[in-house]
Amino acid sequence: MARTLIVYASREGQTGKIAGTIARELESSGAEVFLLNAADIKSFETFGINGFDKVVLGASLHAGYIEKELVRFIDACKTALQQKPCWFFLVLMAAATPDIAKREKDLQAAESMVRKQVPMALGPIEMIAGALM
Ligand SMILES: Cc1cc2nc3c(=O)[nH]c(=O)nc-3n(C[C@H](O)[C@H](O)[C@H](O)COP(=O)(O)O)c2cc1C
Repeated sequence: MARTLIVYASREGQTGKIAGTIARELESSGAEVFLLNAADIKSFETFGINGFDKVVLGASLHAGYIEKELVRFIDACKTALQQKPCWFFLVLMAAATPDIAKREKDLQAAESMVRKQVPMALGPIEMIAGALM
């Protein structure tokens, strides 16, 4: 059974809800899932991810920036993260823009901002529409 770690960061709660939905979907397909809010990790330096087969990372975008606690987690664990299958999803309102050309432009700008903030190379970033509270 694949052990999957999901680490997310969220300011208003949407990314946490989406991470929970991903966790339930993975569990229903047989994975053992550990869901963690990066804000709850006491020591990023000693947090061990070696016992996990796969990692999913999630963050939300505010004024072009993702949460610092997720960036810190990735920075502390990047050597181990780079050695496993690792997915990244980003929650943002730009993904809900009805105008396709504007949406694509805004998502490309968001992706470029995120890649600059994350201290390791990421594969494709899954963009998920959030909600304004
Ligand atoms: C102050 C503020 C700034 C935001 N900035 C952006 C932004 O730059 N780009 C974007 O697409 N969405 C932006 N959003 C929308 C959020 O990404 C969206 O509300 C998301 O669902 C928040 O996720 P969270 O609840 O997990 O924090 C912003 C929302 C707020 C409240």
